[in-house]
Amino acid sequence: MTTTAAPQPTTISRSALRGRFSEVRHTSLRITDGLSPEDQMLQSMPEASPTKWHLAHTTWFFETFILQPYRPGYKPFDPRYKYLFNSYYKQLGAHPYRGSRGLMSRPSLQQVHAYRDYVERALLAFLEDAGNDVLELVELGLNHEQQHQELILTDIKHALWSGPLRPDCVSASNSADSASPLTWTEFEGGIHLVGHDGSGFAFDNESPRHQVLLQPFQIASRAVTNGEYLEFMRDGGYRRPELWLSDGWDAVCSQRWDAPLYWERHDDGSWRQFTMNGFKEVYPAEPVCHVSFYEADAYARWSSARLPTEEEWEVAAVRVPSRGTFLEDYIFYPRAARGEGNQQMFGDVWEWTASPYIAYPGFQPAAGLIGEYNGKFMCNQMVLRGGSCATPSSHIRASYRNFFPPQARWQFSGIRLAR
Ligand SMILES: [Fe+2]
Repeated sequence: MTTTAAPQPTTISRSALRGRFSEVRHTSLRITDGLSPEDQMLQSMPEASPTKWHLAHTTWFFETFILQPYRPGYKPFDPRYKYLFNSYYKQLGAHPYRGSRGLMSRPSLQQVHAYRDYVERALLAFLEDAGNDVLELVELGLNHEQQHQELILTDIKHALWSGPLRPDCVSASNSADSASPLTWTEFEGGIHLVGHDGSGFAFDNESPRHQVLLQPFQIASRAVTNGEYLEFMRDGGYRRPELWLSDGWDAVCSQRWDAPLYWERHDDGSWRQFTMNGFKEVYPAEPVCHVSFYEADAYARWSSARLPTEEEWEVAAVRVPSRGTFLEDYIFYPRAARGEGNQQMFGDVWEWTASPYIAYPGFQPAAGLIGEYNGKFMCNQMVLRGGSCATPSSHIRASYRNFFPPQARWQFSGIRLAR
């Protein structure tokens, strides 16, 4: 993924930032603990990167944007890494072709871990006398690393699924026999405020906060379930061009989609799905996941509803927030909605919106190199909201804008309806 943005004013204290730095860096290692060095080198497609690359690139970010420009006398761990682990910052110079990251047998995983240790020690020492501009960049670097934690999970899931010897089946449990009934929450039309309200960290693409005029609308109380999506499939959802956008129908035909990514049909016609822990049954009560924007849009049309715009989604998330499954649950699949009222606005599955990813009125990318973080990707992608079961819970907020191309399916992306 490409997200990032310019630093916004941070209110975090120096000691809190130290603690957060250690916690975030530790989490990156914890989620990769069970992966062998060979696993961590895999790249299954150009859009996905090896675990080892993510671990090095997030470290490169702190070295390149903080230690090298701000810490007098800092000596890089290895001067070649400036090129090697640059993702897309063209103003920094060349970088390797994205699709060749799986060819990096060197440096070894052990060397990448040593690189992480080296930069961490230097950064923690530097934090003692760093000014506020540096503290803001550290906060940005931590949010950047949290974005990559989710990518580590989504990318290795795709890589392990793509290999011939997939992880063994485990007895992943059914999170519920039935989901909460789907109800609709009403919102009044009129002028609403959306965008970051100025409290705490946000990426630059969440600003400026601005007014939008909305018509009255309703939002579904939870994400679409596997059971509901199976009804769409049984009703010929993947065989009826009238349900699809033109580009979506082209994708269905050319890529032979007949189910969400990671679903496989048993001989008896039932379905199982690949998870981070191997295959498990497709349980009807759990949210449908790993669908593209095109599938979300076709499902919404089939069900006589539509996807929310990102502004509608945000207004609803502020008014009726609710939290589901996050990375810290360490199960990495979405759980069924339970309980009364609005569910799963945050966590479980990213929710595709009907909104293209474009600049808010008055948007200004940050000055300098870091301005490449977000603004240059504002074309040909759709906005997703709310975070997923692979998102760190401290990383998500109502104004957070994620974005992926409409055909992308390897993120933990699902559907919430509006009408
Ligand atoms: Fe990055």
